[in-house]
Parts: sequence; structure tokens; C-alpha cells
Amino acid sequence: MSRKRIAILISGRGSNLPALFRADLGGDIVVIGSNKAEAKGLELARDAGVATFVLNHKSFPSREAFDQAMVDALNQYRPDLVVLSGFMRILTPVFVDAFAGRLINIHPSLLPSYPGLDTHRKAIIDGVKLAGCTVHFVNGELDGGPIIAQAAVHVDDDETPETLQPKVLAQENQIFPYAVKLFCEDRLRIEGKRVRTLPARISS
Ligand code: GRF
Repeated sequence: MSRKRIAILISGRGSNLPALFRADLGGDIVVIGSNKAEAKGLELARDAGVATFVLNHKSFPSREAFDQAMVDALNQYRPDLVVLSGFMRILTPVFVDAFAGRLINIHPSLLPSYPGLDTHRKAIIDGVKLAGCTVHFVNGELDGGPIIAQAAVHVDDDETPETLQPKVLAQENQIFPYAVKLFCEDRLRIEGKRVRTLPARISS
């Protein structure tokens, strides 16, 4: 089995990149792209010697035109897996269909609760006792695809969005590399809305 080629898209800090760089993913990060030239995560990528590119969504006449340009840019790197790590764009079918079954996202809530933005504030207002994060395949629904991995944290009585965010991020840093590795090892099977995780192969 050849090593998987991984492309990552970001829009901001790239706060999961250090964990992804450190981990043994069983694949190679070949490029990191962004829709924002000022994304801090691009500096992390350059420091790590990973190729980068920027496509400014504002330079395109429509979401579809931007998505097609992004597909074309990514395809130059022949990715087996496209990883969304804080990529803050709503994707059209042009993008989602191009990478169906090999497009994953991390979201800072226990999906299907709290899709969309501002998850920590909403969870605290609702009084939930567990919050967390989810890695999932991306389909046409916002934050709606089959779930690969989740991790939960306790919501303390005096929790605020500002205290919850780093607690959840620490868990993101654990489950994101884990989920990418499962994909790279060909251990994920999508069965309807569920994802089955196959056992690790024992090498002789
Ligand atoms: C993470 O919390 C992730 O769950 C969400 O975006 C955040 C990462 O963005 N999708 P950034 O890297 O801090 O900009």
C-alpha cells in the first residue's frame, strides 16, 4: 500500500497543524492551502518545509468558481485525502463531489449537536455538561457527514467560551491525527451515516 498524499486547507491559525506535523500519520502532508494570505498557519507550514498556496475567494465571481479553482489547485498535488482544518468556507457540490469519500473536517462540537459557528457559547448557554469535538467526512450538509472520531470534555460550572476553547482544542489535537492515520491506513469504511473502523493490520 503506497503512502497517502495529504492536502490540508486552513483559513486561520492552523491550530491543529503542529499536532498533525508531529504525528505519525502513515501518510505525507504534501501541501497546505488557504483562502487567506495572512493565515498564521501558512507560516507554520513554511517553517515545516511544506508547500503552500493561497487562493483568495474574493477574487472569484461565485462560490462555485472559487471551489473549482481550489479543486484544480489541490489536484496539482494529487491528494488522496483533503483535510479541512479551520477552513472557513461553505463548500459547494463542485468541491465536495470532487473529493467525495476523501474529504474530512474537524468541528469543535459533539456533532450532530451544534453545527455551524459559535459552538462553545451555544453549548454553555444550553447548560450541557459535556462538550467536545468531531472529525467527520464532509458531505453536502453543513458539518453533517459520517463521524470518524469524537472526544468529550466536561463543561465546568463556571465555564466560558474562552476557557472551553483550549480544552476542546487539546482534544482536537488528539483525535485529528488519529482520524487522519486511520484514513491513511485504509481502515475507514463508510456505511450509510456510520463509519466502521477496521482493526489495524498486524505486520509479520
Ligand atoms: C478548530 O477549533 C476547528 O475545530 C475549527 O476551526 C478551529 C481551527 O481553526 N474547525 P484555527 O486553526 O484556530 O484557525
